[in-house]
Amino acid sequence: MDKKVALITGASRGIGRAIALRLAKENIHIVALARTIGALESLDDEITSNGGSCTLIPQDLKKLDQLESIGPALAEKLGRLDIFIANAGLLGTLGPIAHASPKEVEMIFKVNVLANQQLLRSLDPLLRASDAGRVITLLTSPEVVNGCAYWGLYGASKAALSSFTNAYADETKQTNIKVVGYNPGAVRTKMRAQAMPGEDPMTLPTPEQTAEEIWNLLA
Ligand SMILES: NC(=O)c1ccc[n+]([C@@H]2O[C@H](COP(=O)([O-])OP(=O)(O)OC[C@H]3O[C@@H](n4cnc5c(N)ncnc54)[C@H](OP(=O)(O)O)[C@@H]3O)[C@@H](O)[C@H]2O)c1
Repeated sequence: MDKKVALITGASRGIGRAIALRLAKENIHIVALARTIGALESLDDEITSNGGSCTLIPQDLKKLDQLESIGPALAEKLGRLDIFIANAGLLGTLGPIAHASPKEVEMIFKVNVLANQQLLRSLDPLLRASDAGRVITLLTSPEVVNGCAYWGLYGASKAALSSFTNAYADETKQTNIKVVGYNPGAVRTKMRAQAMPGEDPMTLPTPEQTAEEIWNLLA
């Protein structure tokens, strides 16, 4: 593959989809991962009809043991990976931390934390081989990361993601890899509507605006 390659998780909708379209415009080959195959195919159609190229990975991130093979598969098929956007995320049920069931705690931590660490483990050799590896993880507001009422489970998962983002940044500071944990603020997506059902979405920035900010961070 002559052009740069970016893996974006949660590329089927919202912020992830907008990032995929934005990077495809820069002649970057997109590897789009999510569960919803129809939405991934529609993303592929949009990218290819604009002259870009795309590889789809229909994958449930909760299936942690299947993530290990993604790095080697990309190495074999595309020969490189330059950008990893750890965007997929789950909000879960907002409510008292004392009420969260073990099943929900496990699900949120699998998608928001454990899957990202397993992906990083699988992708690290390719990122180190790139002459300008980039990793961006999608975090949330400092208040939520610090722990606040009814957002405890989501916040704890993003705190863990933030911590290992910082660790990876520190471990790679002598390399060509740049690592950023990014808080997009409130964005007009399905997740935000689930968190704040009474809010008028038209008052919020669009995923395309967030994608532009992420493109600037990648530069
Ligand atoms: N929107 C905001 O206001 C806001 C604010 C702060 C931080 N963030 C963060 O930004 C990121 C993107 O959020 P968003 O608002 O765009 O969310 P969204 O609209 O709900 O999209 C979430 C994406 O994650 C994917 N995903 C969820 N569970 C998955 C699983 N088990 N396996 C594979 N993919 C999975 C979804 O794809 P499928 O359902 O097709 O699998 C979807 O593409 C998240 O990490 C979120 O925490 C968002």
